[in-house]
Amino acid sequence: MQDEKEYCQSVSLEHRKKYAQFFTPYPIADFMAQWILGNTDCKTILDPAFGLGVFARAIFDNTDRNINITGLEIDSLILSQARKLNHHLNVNLYHQDYISQDWQENYDGIICNPPYFKFHDYDNKTNLKEIKQKLGITLTGFTNLYTLFLLKSIYQLNPNGRIAYIVPSEFLNSDYGKKIKDYLIKDGKLRYVIILDFAENIFTDAITTSSILLFAHDKKSQDLEFISVKSLTELNNLQTELNKYPQSLTGGNKLNYSQINPKLKWRLYYQPQQSLNFKNLVPFSAYGKVVRGIATGANDYFTFNLEKQKHYKIPDCYLLPCIPKANYINSPFFNLATFEELKEKNKKVLLLNVTDLQNENVKKYIQLGEENQIHKKHLTSHRKPWYAIEKRPPSPIWVSVFNRNGLRFIKNEAKIRNLTTFHCIYLNLLSANREDLLFAYLLTDVSKKIFQDNRREYGQGLEKFEPNDLNSSLVVNLDCITVQEEIKIIDLFQRYRKNIFSNHTQSEFLKEINEIFSRIITK
Ligand SMILES: C[S@@+](CC[C@H](N)C(=O)[O-])C[C@H]1O[C@@H](n2cnc3c(N)ncnc32)[C@H](O)[C@@H]1O
Repeated sequence: MQDEKEYCQSVSLEHRKKYAQFFTPYPIADFMAQWILGNTDCKTILDPAFGLGVFARAIFDNTDRNINITGLEIDSLILSQARKLNHHLNVNLYHQDYISQDWQENYDGIICNPPYFKFHDYDNKTNLKEIKQKLGITLTGFTNLYTLFLLKSIYQLNPNGRIAYIVPSEFLNSDYGKKIKDYLIKDGKLRYVIILDFAENIFTDAITTSSILLFAHDKKSQDLEFISVKSLTELNNLQTELNKYPQSLTGGNKLNYSQINPKLKWRLYYQPQQSLNFKNLVPFSAYGKVVRGIATGANDYFTFNLEKQKHYKIPDCYLLPCIPKANYINSPFFNLATFEELKEKNKKVLLLNVTDLQNENVKKYIQLGEENQIHKKHLTSHRKPWYAIEKRPPSPIWVSVFNRNGLRFIKNEAKIRNLTTFHCIYLNLLSANREDLLFAYLLTDVSKKIFQDNRREYGQGLEKFEPNDLNSSLVVNLDCITVQEEIKIIDLFQRYRKNIFSNHTQSEFLKEINEIFSRIITK
């Protein structure tokens, strides 16, 4: 990794981000290379996102066979470095965009850490058209580039060939991943999904967890096996077992293709599901809808504190009370008094809401935004007018998006708005008159344990929940609570709330609430 280290020191982070240049640690590259070489007839290998060539290094460290490696790279800067480092006669490097070129070639091995962009602003249309033409699969504009790389590589694989890809685990559990998973199942070459569940993030500066996908274009297996590995030592042990492919792995979950559902989150196949230990559960969507908070596209510009309001002389009627940061709130109940406290402490809890340009100061502030190019940002440029705020009424309950210690639900008694730091929970007719009962359940440890089934891991203990992760999570069926239990829970809940407001931190009441709900839902 010395070459990669030196490269990182010599170019700006901005440049690396532009091309998604995050490098594969050598032990991982070595593991992937050995899978590719497991095809003893392998003569040609492609790395479609070459970088500095860690995979080529790992291949030649593991074999003396006469193998030709083709490397593609879109960035001429890193390519010039790669050319200096890869003198091997059998390595041919090309300055090319993988998706738009090279469709006619086939390879015995394809090994890749594809570019991953969290939010893309590139034009995906041509790429998607190409994929549709060649593979007959229609994908949405949200589809991330790394999955397009993967689909193309499958298309280019020779019989008996193998693929090793390292990708963010995201698509296994996200909505846009469903079509990809559907394709993978129909295609039938994917043999292993290896979740890298390491305590420390292996990619020092990326924030998602990764999985290694291993494919074989052979008829040796009709199964797909899932396995989580927790350390490099475990990955090494797995290597020894993979030499016996298609024999099952110790600790793996091997499933026939016919048993795998592409519509489900595949977490189900590699993580024990808490909800299986409970009864009387229904999807959260039975009681309401979780929706993301207001996205401004430029929080610094759109949010105000009192000082900023005074400075720009913006009248009150152009500012809405709003919570922009999760750490402003440290209690499960948020009321107007707490809001006023934040405001007095000069926190940015006011959101610009310009519905007309009749006020001169407001007009000037909008002009300032244009001078600073705020109107050209990704979100603002798609709005009319660019400074309009999303119409999202205050929701009765908020839930935190990123978490380290489990989900945080907050009762929005102040009835004010929130930015994307929280998701909004809107209740429907089935639960609106049982808001406190439902909220009491959401505060319990047992509810949080069950929500865990739908979390997304971002490494280093950071977890994220997208709105749909919560909509499809299971919660207690309120109809299974008896009248006596409901009376008891509500009484405990009110006492708990009163305690919080009088600054008592003891959670005896919450413990009791947890016990009652646990009794209702434990099998
Ligand atoms: C995640 S890095 C992986 C680099 C190297 N293979 C490794 O594993 O360390 C992805 C590389 O692909 C390059 N890249 C990005 N988009 C590409 C494209 N459309 N076609 C070819 N290469 C691309 C980037 O410049 C970057 O070097």
